[in-house]
Amino acid sequence: MIIQLGTEQDIDHWMNLVEKVRDSFPGLETEEALNEHRNIVLDFMNRNSAICAKEKGKIVGILLFSNENSELCFLAVAAEYRRRHIAEKMLSYMFTKLDSSKDIFVTTYRDGVPEGIAARAFYKRMGFVEGKLTEEFGSPVQEFVLKR
Ligand SMILES: CC(C)(COP(=O)(O)OP(=O)(O)OC[C@H]1O[C@@H](n2cnc3c(N)ncnc32)[C@H](O)[C@@H]1OP(=O)(O)O)[C@@H](O)C(=O)NCCC(=O)NCCS
Repeated sequence: MIIQLGTEQDIDHWMNLVEKVRDSFPGLETEEALNEHRNIVLDFMNRNSAICAKEKGKIVGILLFSNENSELCFLAVAAEYRRRHIAEKMLSYMFTKLDSSKDIFVTTYRDGVPEGIAARAFYKRMGFVEGKLTEEFGSPVQEFVLKR
């Protein structure tokens, strides 16, 4: 398994994984939204802010981050590859690209939502602490912060 920056050549395989996990992400319900997301991913790729995990050439994990906002913007691992520390490895790679003096932010499901169990457990395990309750795409979410 290798962790590397995703480039434009990866976009079709990247989007195949997004389609598989789209149910976990509010805001990806329609074809139009998926197309818009594709352009967003291409933007992140052009800014060297798209990280992927590849197993035998196949993309099995994806992560988008923002250097400007010190924020993890999108994270998913293919269902059949979970609990193999792939998300953890992508996160560690992201840390090497971010300013080590700045807190890192991410928003995810609020407590009590079944879809949020894995993500919340993951972020806590990685050292993030619970922050503000906010909304994203009209859904209630919670910020998590990695204090530095
Ligand atoms: C959240 C997600 C990215 C985690 O990816 P992953 O590669 O399985 O995570 P890792 O294997 O790196 O997990 C590292 C540690 O986090 C914790 N963790 C991860 N998933 C967990 C779960 N389902 N339940 C409890 N703890 C969990 C564990 O402590 C794990 O270590 P361990 O397996 O040795 O116990 C993955 O479950 C996923 O893609 N979910 C759907 C999309 C999603 O929710 N994305 C985030 C939205 S903001």
